[in-house]
Amino acid sequence: MILVLDFGSQYNQLITRRIREFGVYSELHSHKMSIEEIKDMNPSGIILSGGPNSVYGEESFRCDEQIFELGIPVLGICYGMQLMTHHFGGKVERAKEREYGKADINVAKEPVIFAKTPREQTVWMSHSDKVIEAPEGFQVDATSPSCPVAAISNDEARMYGVQFHPEVRHSEYGNDILRSFVFDVCEATDDWTMEHVVEMEVEKIREKVGDRKVLCALSGGVDSSVVAALIHRAIGDQLTCIFVDHGLLRKNEADDVMRTLGDGFNMNIIKIDAKDRFMSKLAGVSDPEKKRKIIGNEFIYVFDDEAEKLKDIDFLAQGTLYTDIIESGTETAQTIKSHHNVGGLPEDMQFELIEPLNTLFKDEVRALGTELGVPEHIVWRQPFPGPGLAIRVLGEVTEEKLEIVRESDHVLRDEIKKAGLDRDIWQYFTVLPDIRSVGVMGDERTYDYTIGIRAVTSIDGMTSDWARIPWDVLEKISTRIVNEVDHINRVVYDVTSKPPATIEWE
Ligand code: XMP
Repeated sequence: MILVLDFGSQYNQLITRRIREFGVYSELHSHKMSIEEIKDMNPSGIILSGGPNSVYGEESFRCDEQIFELGIPVLGICYGMQLMTHHFGGKVERAKEREYGKADINVAKEPVIFAKTPREQTVWMSHSDKVIEAPEGFQVDATSPSCPVAAISNDEARMYGVQFHPEVRHSEYGNDILRSFVFDVCEATDDWTMEHVVEMEVEKIREKVGDRKVLCALSGGVDSSVVAALIHRAIGDQLTCIFVDHGLLRKNEADDVMRTLGDGFNMNIIKIDAKDRFMSKLAGVSDPEKKRKIIGNEFIYVFDDEAEKLKDIDFLAQGTLYTDIIESGTETAQTIKSHHNVGGLPEDMQFELIEPLNTLFKDEVRALGTELGVPEHIVWRQPFPGPGLAIRVLGEVTEEKLEIVRESDHVLRDEIKKAGLDRDIWQYFTVLPDIRSVGVMGDERTYDYTIGIRAVTSIDGMTSDWARIPWDVLEKISTRIVNEVDHINRVVYDVTSKPPATIEWE
């Protein structure tokens, strides 16, 4: 296990990801982690991430400096290297300007972590301060024109530092450098496979739950489906899932989830038909934030009502991901939209939580789902917002408008799949703005709705670009929507990235 301590770099999650890609388990933790916690964790190596601070700043992030005395190998990246240098008595220069982008470095003769890389290579720099004098006992492993000390090492103490970011793909041999640290220096073993994760998690769940019962809120999305499948593998019938059909789902979605997980996996699922409850609360409401809040609250009321009816439930399972945990720890962002999560459950519910995905990234959850035998169409399902189609019908939500979105979305999904684009495009759906325009169909004037197509590429939904769907595919989608969906006489394609737009229209 490799411990990564977070000093606030924008790339900190990437370090953990790269190491996991090597098959070695790695966790990212706050730099505030205590020395006792670190000792308990017993990592084979510690990586100090980059960060925006200066080691001379009074408020700068620091870690317990005893980590340098534990005898555990340490790799400092960027700020991490400066911190190490400062600790061991080297010199760090305060910079007036930032160096950002690619840089060429020259590697000295035989430094361990560069052993499998060429003497000249391109790396990714993103720093202000820099080391100008290595501490005593350390040698300079690499230099660049603007950075006389671009990498340092002390083999005896097993301490290493790099000014650049090996975790960023633009560092040509970054992976080899990290690999050498992880395998050659830390001697970590690459036994972290999905098969192993399933075994470990099943064991943990069995131990925690014993013969008690677990409730899981199932939305049909990737995360909650994988959680349900995993817990079901561990404790079978002691798991009950609640699936709330709020009437804002895509075409055939509720049946599909019930068939796949209920019949296919033999899971105990209670489906709650709450359509009327949601639609009556939404009647007459057109403000997007009000709609979101109503749906979020109503979901909780329905879930609470059902949970109360079930007796002897001790645990609540949730599909919280590692990213949610990391992000909520450093969240400073302004609220752009109130995201409704199935996880937003009442605080006064007396359940203990089970969150078996809270150490995994999204793609790892997909791999876990595949390992558990969850069908591909669920594992590779695109993200679907908690408030569902209600935020894709702009303005007031009516049954007629929901039907238009449901049908047009069905056509879009069908054509994207036929074109083989369903894994390339991150998310794609239709939206119904409250506009009507004039058209002509079969010699007759029409005055009907416009449908918008939204299709984006993204990595994590935080930023996105509009997908370059080939014209002929767009043409088929447009023709089919106008022909097959009542009340649509015009189709438009949204060509805005995020920012400045957001992915959903509301
Ligand atoms: P935006 O529209 O904010 O969306 O660019 C980014 C991603 O988040 C999804 N989304 C939500 N997911 N509850 C969710 O679980 C929500 O309330 C919600 N709103 C947006 C959206 O579909 C996109 O993938």
